[in-house]
Amino acid sequence: MKISLMLQLSFITMLVVLLLINSPVYGHCLGDQKALLLKLKNGLTFDSSLSTKLVRWDQNTDCCQWPGVSCDQKGHVLVLELDNEAIFSGLENPTSLFDLQYLEKLNLAYNHLNSVQIPREVYKLTNLTYLNLSFAGFGGKIPMELSRLTKLTFLDLSNVALKLESGDLKALVGNLPNLRELYLDEVYISWKGIEWCSTLSSSLPQLRVLSMTNCGISSPFDPILLNLHFLSVIRLDDNNLSTIVPEFLANFTKLTTLGLSNCNLRGEFPNKIFQVPTLQELDLYGNEILTGTLPDFSQNGSLRELGLGRTNFTGSLPDSIANLTTLTEIDLSSCNFFGPISSKMENLRDLVYLDFSFNSFTGSIPLFHKAKKLNYINLSHNNLTGPLSSTHFGGLSELEYLHLEENYIGGTLPTVVFSIPSLQVLELQNNHFSGEVHEFANASSSFLYKLDLSNNYLNGSIPRSIFKLNRLSQLLLSSNSFRGTINIEAIKGLPRLKILDLSYNNLRIDVQGSNSTSFPFPQMSELNLASCQLQKFPDLKNQSLIFALDLSYNRIKGNIPIVPTSLIYLSIANNKLTGPIPSSICNLYQLQFLDMSNNSINNKLPPCLFQMFDYLSVLNLGRNRLSGIILDTFLSNCSLKTLDLSNNNLEGKVPRSLQRCAFLEVLDIGNNKIRDTFPCMLKTLPSLHILVLRSNKFYGDLQCRIANQTWSKLQIIDIASNNFRGALLPHYFSNLEGMMKSRNPGPRLHYLEVEFINYGLYYRNRVTLTLKGQEMEIENILEVFTSIDFSCNNFEGEIPEVLGDLKLLYLLNLSHNALTGRIPKALGKLSQLGSLDLSVNQLSGRIPDELASLTFLAFLNLSFNQLSGRIPRGNQLQTFSAESFEGNTGLCDFPLKKLCSDTKMNGSSQPRSSSDDETVDGKYISFALGSSLCFGIVTWLLLHSTRYNELVVRLLFRIFGEHKKAGRNRNRRRSR
Ligand SMILES: *[C@@H]1O[C@H](CO)[C@@H](O)[C@H](O)[C@H]1NC(C)=O
Ligand SMILES: *[C@@H]1O[C@H](CO)[C@@H](O)[C@H](O)[C@H]1NC(C)=O
Ligand SMILES: *[C@@H]1O[C@H](CO)[C@@H](O)[C@H](O)[C@H]1NC(C)=O
Repeated sequence: MKISLMLQLSFITMLVVLLLINSPVYGHCLGDQKALLLKLKNGLTFDSSLSTKLVRWDQNTDCCQWPGVSCDQKGHVLVLELDNEAIFSGLENPTSLFDLQYLEKLNLAYNHLNSVQIPREVYKLTNLTYLNLSFAGFGGKIPMELSRLTKLTFLDLSNVALKLESGDLKALVGNLPNLRELYLDEVYISWKGIEWCSTLSSSLPQLRVLSMTNCGISSPFDPILLNLHFLSVIRLDDNNLSTIVPEFLANFTKLTTLGLSNCNLRGEFPNKIFQVPTLQELDLYGNEILTGTLPDFSQNGSLRELGLGRTNFTGSLPDSIANLTTLTEIDLSSCNFFGPISSKMENLRDLVYLDFSFNSFTGSIPLFHKAKKLNYINLSHNNLTGPLSSTHFGGLSELEYLHLEENYIGGTLPTVVFSIPSLQVLELQNNHFSGEVHEFANASSSFLYKLDLSNNYLNGSIPRSIFKLNRLSQLLLSSNSFRGTINIEAIKGLPRLKILDLSYNNLRIDVQGSNSTSFPFPQMSELNLASCQLQKFPDLKNQSLIFALDLSYNRIKGNIPIVPTSLIYLSIANNKLTGPIPSSICNLYQLQFLDMSNNSINNKLPPCLFQMFDYLSVLNLGRNRLSGIILDTFLSNCSLKTLDLSNNNLEGKVPRSLQRCAFLEVLDIGNNKIRDTFPCMLKTLPSLHILVLRSNKFYGDLQCRIANQTWSKLQIIDIASNNFRGALLPHYFSNLEGMMKSRNPGPRLHYLEVEFINYGLYYRNRVTLTLKGQEMEIENILEVFTSIDFSCNNFEGEIPEVLGDLKLLYLLNLSHNALTGRIPKALGKLSQLGSLDLSVNQLSGRIPDELASLTFLAFLNLSFNQLSGRIPRGNQLQTFSAESFEGNTGLCDFPLKKLCSDTKMNGSSQPRSSSDDETVDGKYISFALGSSLCFGIVTWLLLHSTRYNELVVRLLFRIFGEHKKAGRNRNRRRSR
């Protein structure tokens, strides 16, 4: 928008200048004028390969014909334009320039001078009306001699001075009463208060254009500006005005342009300004806390460009938008607009640029086929529905960018979109497109360089036409249902391919290659062939540019080969790889992500692996057959965020140097043979969200003598199935703030994930939890999901009341210990609790009535304790089956078959016979003591577990509202 404005302005300026010079521009060059010009040229240093004018000044031709030079009839030089000539020096004191006495227009803009001062002698050019020194490399102080150029109508000093004091402004413009256009962009102006307004309005009565973007102005507008009756262009973008927009700006009767982007404006934008009939351009982009709504646009408006992106504008789009028949650019991106996009939009035939992305627009996509000049359409990240018809964008011959991603657009994909002749970027990912994609015409003449159809419901085979789009650089077809076998050689027709993502379809990709020995894409930077039924590694020997490689979920057998050292992201998880981790992996000097989980990799961890954590933030080697110890050699620059070594045969202790990994968020070393006491040094890790030590040989109590215990973010702790013992002391739980604070989750739920920001990739952490007695891998860990699993240890004593403070707790499993005492009433305060397992302990007394108020409870197991009395009545507890309560001989009433002997007891504790207790103990106490026996019970519980993952997600949605596209997140690529 800004650039086009500049062009427009310089065009207007040129017209003005041409009118002022009311004579033909070609005369015959006078000798002295030519001599002066040649002298000037000879004094200049410039890059002749970039110069387009000076290089063509030929001594043997008429100097009035030289590019950048115009003369009057008598042959005096009137106009000298040396802008964009790559001039480095020679303008410090160019006497010959100031001898060009007749000069009326001088333009030296956009050169590469090295902060030289504007020569004072410039005042000698007394007839100058136009002076443009912007972005030429002038610096220092602005010479006040400029103010002697009293005929100036145009002055552009943008990016010239380092600083302009307020007195200087008065001195500079006080004598320039004819000035119509003043540009001081990027001139730092240390003005206080409203001085700038009064100085300008008292000195420049003719002013039409005022442009002072990024000047450091920080004061509000003063109505005194209204004295500038002719003012039509106001550009104050990128100043921290921190003010409301005054309504009086609508009183400028000639206002055509109002640029106030990134001004930290606040309050409500006055609707009256939209109504100014002369207004052509309004730019409020980036004022994130400026609120407002769109008005009813009248028919006599002149609006051409409307920029409201990244503001807090809200409301719906009025049908009257169709009255803006002159509109060419509209940006409503990242606001709070909602409701349908008026179908009347189709009447806006002059549209060139339209960005409605990141709002909550609903309904179907309006037709734009009449706007023949449309170049850019972005409707992404809304809630648009309905099909895309072939009339939507057919015949838009200038369309280069079409962004419809992240909506709910469905139906089949009209092939006409592929044939839009100028189209370069087509993004349709994360929609509901379905059916087959048909072959389309003219593929080889297409300009498409990015095609993204990921995360739809497309099926059939991938049309071969796609492999003829020979300018394609990014092809992303992930997470559809495309079928068929593709030999990688078939994609050879795409020589410029840099990003190829065919993951998660029903494709079988053959990388065998017929005769060629290596991969046919020399420029490949990202290759994702996850879940493509690969049988072997593609040969990537010669890929020196590749930085992301995902070959997970395939059927690759054998040893891990040598991979390109340029890799930053490498996943070969879920294959059938065997053998050791080769130490060549340590040659990947910029590796940030390594996932080799779920293979049959064996042997010891290569020692060099632990020396390469400079960049490595995710290391997942879980579910393999690794043995040996975890070396205690983590370095102080460790940048690990996720370390998963679970489900191996690792022995020894938890390395103490792990506490150097200060960013660690996830540590999973569950299901190994680690024999150690509780690793207290982990308590100094402030970012830890998940700690899994389950099924090892840990022993001792949980007491730690560490000064700065934080764990304020811990959300999942699983130390089940070890030999921990001792009482559950209240302070173990009292600083788990991550499970206490009621956070406002905002409109979107946050998953625990690691982002690789520069690459648009992210890794979503997974963890295996025992939920409802069954081990489950949870792939999408919401930051609000919280769990404590201490089951199958030897903990004794009472359940501490303080657990009731963990208000966010979702899962609590203390089963299979030797806990005694009553179930604390405080557990009734755990209002988010979805799963509670206290089975196989020695808990006694009544089940507290408070438990009946746990309305989200979906799983409850209190079996095999010594509980007694009536099962509290309430909505919740009676929905569980008898198994939840069995093995407590003193319990009675529904759902148990046993009726309470005294119905009048109703609420008070029931004495039990001690012989009953002993029966229970005798039978089940062994489970509570020996954790290895736990699994017997797990099998029993398995029978009762179903779809837990789904349940967790569903319940959380009920609490926090629906999250868009839940469960469809295998795609690792995220749009900005
Ligand atoms: C300046 O312009 C005036 C009016 O156009 C003209 O008469 C005069 O000769 C010019 N002076 C010089 C020094 O060019
Ligand atoms: C702007 O114009 C309105 C009338 O259209 C008038 O009431 C108001 O006082 C004017 N504001 C200023 C600051 O002159
Ligand atoms: C944005 O506007 C809404 C009302 O539409 C308001 O509730 C919210 O506080 C505003 N946000 C900011 C950051 O000003």
